[in-house]
Amino acid sequence: MLYPAVKLAASAVVSLALVLLPAAPAAADPASAESALAQADRQPDAPFIPTPPAVVAEMLRVAKVGADDVVYDLGSGDGRIVIAAAKEHGARGVGVEINPSLVARAEESARQAGVADRVRFLRQDLFQTALTEATVVTLYLLPLLNRALRPKLERLRPGTRVVSHDFAMGDWEPDQVSVAQGKRVYLWVVK
Ligand SMILES: C[S@@+](CC[C@H](N)C(=O)[O-])C[C@H]1O[C@@H](n2cnc3c(N)ncnc32)[C@H](O)[C@@H]1O
Repeated sequence: MLYPAVKLAASAVVSLALVLLPAAPAAADPASAESALAQADRQPDAPFIPTPPAVVAEMLRVAKVGADDVVYDLGSGDGRIVIAAAKEHGARGVGVEINPSLVARAEESARQAGVADRVRFLRQDLFQTALTEATVVTLYLLPLLNRALRPKLERLRPGTRVVSHDFAMGDWEPDQVSVAQGKRVYLWVVK
């Protein structure tokens, strides 16, 4: 297992490569209003490191995602979590991503997966996103970002499930911790 410092250094290299990629145009979205785009016009708070498919499956399993759910992935990368939620569980999904080339990639993947009518991707700063519609929130960010999001997540409707790949949420005790492909998956159910 890599030490956190080594993991972060590797992450920074991946991040830099992604930041240097040419940006594809973001598709029009009603929620991508001018102000949201302005907030999105800054560097990501965490690099793009995709969650492996087995861990995505475990995150959706522990959250018991079903057809009535609306899954928000904060920092959605290439869209794999919301696309899997729609394709494998019949849910609706919203991905929130600051990097426009990743938003474009996610939209194309959703089309290819045949779920473009059930998922959407917002080019937005995740800290500015309204989560009132969410029944499930998924995260693969960093411990500091999880802790910063905690107050907002704790105010969501009772029963909302929050699932985090790899990182806890300060002293908010998880309801469940499982392991997939050597990675921890944390579940909190909002009380
Ligand atoms: C570790 S990746 C996780 C990607 C995806 N959720 C997954 O699990 O495969 C974190 C993502 O968060 C995005 N991100 C970082 N800071 C953000 C912010 N403030 N608002 C929106 N997205 C952000 C990054 O661009 C990156 O794609």
